[in-house]
Amino acid sequence: MFSPSLTPMDIAGRNALITGGAHRVGRALTLALSEAGADVFIHYKSSSEAAEATADEARAAGRKAATGSADLGDPATGGILIEMATAALGPISILVNSASGFPTDSLESIRIEDWHRAHDLTLASPVFLTQAFAAALPSDMEGAVVNITDVHTKTPYRNHFSYTVAKGGLDTFTRAAALALAPRIRVNAVALGLILPPAGKDQAYVEALAEGLPLAKVGGTDPVVSATIALIQNPFITGEIVRTDGGSHLVSPQ
Ligand SMILES: NC(=O)c1ccc[n+]([C@@H]2O[C@H](COP(=O)([O-])OP(=O)(O)OC[C@H]3O[C@@H](n4cnc5c(N)ncnc54)[C@H](OP(=O)(O)O)[C@@H]3O)[C@@H](O)[C@H]2O)c1
Repeated sequence: MFSPSLTPMDIAGRNALITGGAHRVGRALTLALSEAGADVFIHYKSSSEAAEATADEARAAGRKAATGSADLGDPATGGILIEMATAALGPISILVNSASGFPTDSLESIRIEDWHRAHDLTLASPVFLTQAFAAALPSDMEGAVVNITDVHTKTPYRNHFSYTVAKGGLDTFTRAAALALAPRIRVNAVALGLILPPAGKDQAYVEALAEGLPLAKVGGTDPVVSATIALIQNPFITGEIVRTDGGSHLVSPQ
């Protein structure tokens, strides 16, 4: 049986795949992994210019970087994406599932097709990407998966119904996958709160929301990066969901 090491996982020399890795949170995670010494495969759907720019930044840090587009609205794409990343870099032993939609909908009015669309992208794609990742990981290699989820699975959004339920599924998947894939692959999650302004909103908008939070600040990407890197490196943590939210889970939902 595979005997896992209890020394911290060394990110240097590994290959990492980051979904939605071109910009915003995904870009910060990509660059942190490359700064820690990993070669990176930056998945994107439509942000090709941002993906290339992020790849250039990773190369400037002295690492290999490759990019590839895939529509994760089709969960069957997961296997193809692992093949693309492996062909570009070699075996992938770190997977960060960050790509997601953020549709506005409600229980009262959601249509079945919108429900399926949200779940395919936000839940089914990480599931089947993780399945393909695990199948492709060489038998003598340890792996780490980090799912980027949302603290509002515990304090649900009223107007992002399908997203909230799908991210709740991602939380449960994190624990189920941690059990299924132990001991060789650890699976954890980082649950984000107010990190960056959503599309169409500015920094002032999130700063006003942050006034009601225990830590009274917007996170930015640095806390997400440090939590993700810690979960990848720590050899004795699996199935954990780390809230990175300035304490928003302690008070009412926004
Ligand atoms: N920002 C926050 O404050 C916050 C708060 C809570 C949770 N989160 C979570 O953190 C993660 C990153 O958030 P973010 O705000 O940086 O993300 P974002 O700006 O909303 O970007 C979404 C990402 O998902 C990709 N994507 C969207 N639809 C896709 C599809 N059909 N197929 C493949 N990729 C697709 C996009 O790729 P392209 O741009 O290439 O199309 C983009 O990289 C997400 O999981 C989000 O739910 C963020």
